Amino acid sequence: MKVLSFGSLNYDHVYEMDHFTEPKETQSSLSYTKNYGGKGLNQSIALVKAGLDVYHAGRVGNDGQELIDYLNQYHVNTDYLFKDDNSATGHAIIEICKGQNRIILHGGANQLIDEKQIDDVLSHFEKGDVLLIQNEISCLSYLINSAHDKEMIIVFNSAPMNEKVFTYPLDKIDIFIVNEIEAAGLIKYDGNDIDEIIKGIKEEFFDKMIIMTIGEKGSYYLYKDGLIHQDAYKVEAVDTTAAGDTFTGFFIASYLKDKDIKKALDLASKASSITVQGVGAARSIPDIKDLS
Ligand code: RIB
Repeated sequence: MKVLSFGSLNYDHVYEMDHFTEPKETQSSLSYTKNYGGKGLNQSIALVKAGLDVYHAGRVGNDGQELIDYLNQYHVNTDYLFKDDNSATGHAIIEICKGQNRIILHGGANQLIDEKQIDDVLSHFEKGDVLLIQNEISCLSYLINSAHDKEMIIVFNSAPMNEKVFTYPLDKIDIFIVNEIEAAGLIKYDGNDIDEIIKGIKEEFFDKMIIMTIGEKGSYYLYKDGLIHQDAYKVEAVDTTAAGDTFTGFFIASYLKDKDIKKALDLASKASSITVQGVGAARSIPDIKDLS
């Protein structure tokens, strides 16, 4: 079984702020760092740091070699990562303040993924292989349909949540990994009552495996009549960027290895509690060796 992470790669421009910038306000940042990110890249890094071999497919622009080198440094297979000399790599502008963040995304090359690239990449994968995706690249419906036709196992982290998600063939997804806001979005529920969200998810996605994180309140596994809750590890958050990506990568890696949901939830919670204690995305993701 091979694992294919087909997703975004970004340069993250991270500004530490005194407060989030208001409309009409100009303020200086307290610090600036340029990091490697994108939900796809972060999740690939989390998968390898959790001990899994992974292929990363996606698209960077003419300035994207650093991101490819970074993945290679962690032994992510980048054979199916396409460098497009006519475009620019995706980037994110991230304000962080008191443990919270605010992100502006510019898709760049991530939004130029097309059917041809998908056909080329998927020709190297087969029935039973795992496809991990997020909502930051183009052509996702085609990717989901093609992977489903090949009988791959499809894991969808529906982040960032937006209207486009409802245009995808969600019935072909096997495992959803969401936070409570994304879960509420999936069932078109406006409130924040966790019990209502769980009830709605169970009704609408009864036969899907759902992993839902709810920040400091931990995480849930929901499948048919089953429900497992995992407490969060309590830590002081400095920057929550990539916490969800860490959770996703560690959960999937652990679950594929041991098929033990409780163990996977615990490991993923522990790993993401470490990520939030550092500034930056991929670089804050811990190695499995540091979790014992
Ligand atoms: O999940 C965090 C990521 O979201 C950042 O690295 C940023 O690039 C955006 O894609």
